[in-house]
Amino acid sequence: MISNNMLDDIKDVLFSKEDLDEMVKRMGKQISEDYKDKNLLLVSILKGSVIIMADLMREITIPAEIDFMSVSSYGNDTKSSGRVRIIKDLDKDIAGYDVLLVEDILDSGKTLSYLMSILATRNPRSIKICTMFDKPHRREVESIKADYAGGIVPDEFIVGYGLDYAQKYRNLPFVGILKEKVYSE
Ligand code: IMP
Ligand code: MG
Repeated sequence: MISNNMLDDIKDVLFSKEDLDEMVKRMGKQISEDYKDKNLLLVSILKGSVIIMADLMREITIPAEIDFMSVSSYGNDTKSSGRVRIIKDLDKDIAGYDVLLVEDILDSGKTLSYLMSILATRNPRSIKICTMFDKPHRREVESIKADYAGGIVPDEFIVGYGLDYAQKYRNLPFVGILKEKVYSE
């Protein structure tokens, strides 16, 4: 049972666990086809993508390596500040790899724009973006597009399946819209 105090903060359930499984399976299948002759390195952007990463890698049927990177841009706010700080860099030298960045959600695009510009200087063979959720109408950096997206979401603040508000709600097994009163208080 999920404790009531988390559920009380959710306005609506947007994607059930079954919906999420379906979305991840579809992406995993496509990635397995597209990367079958490549040198795939999955890069999880912590912390939000930990759940999608764990699920997605098991839907990928071709050889793949993994690595992790941690950046911070938000503090406790619900909007991107544009300032992105590397907290943990990759362990691997990505030269020659086909890097697939695995993100929880693509919003303004500022985080990934910054990350792509840093990683591009390290001579990977290619860099693409896989995001569980996309808010395309919120994009501020036009050049940033999702090569793989699980689902398009409305302009609302969502939590669960790895996504947080002030570091909480990541462990919800579904994705819900957070009540506005939670972040306007
Ligand atoms: P961007 O730099 O604006 O694209 O921000 C992307 C990051 O913002 C994501 O990795 C999330 O950490 C966070 N974010 C954006 N929208 C949401 C949301 O609806 N729920 C939870 N986190 C979000
Ligand atoms: Mg976050």
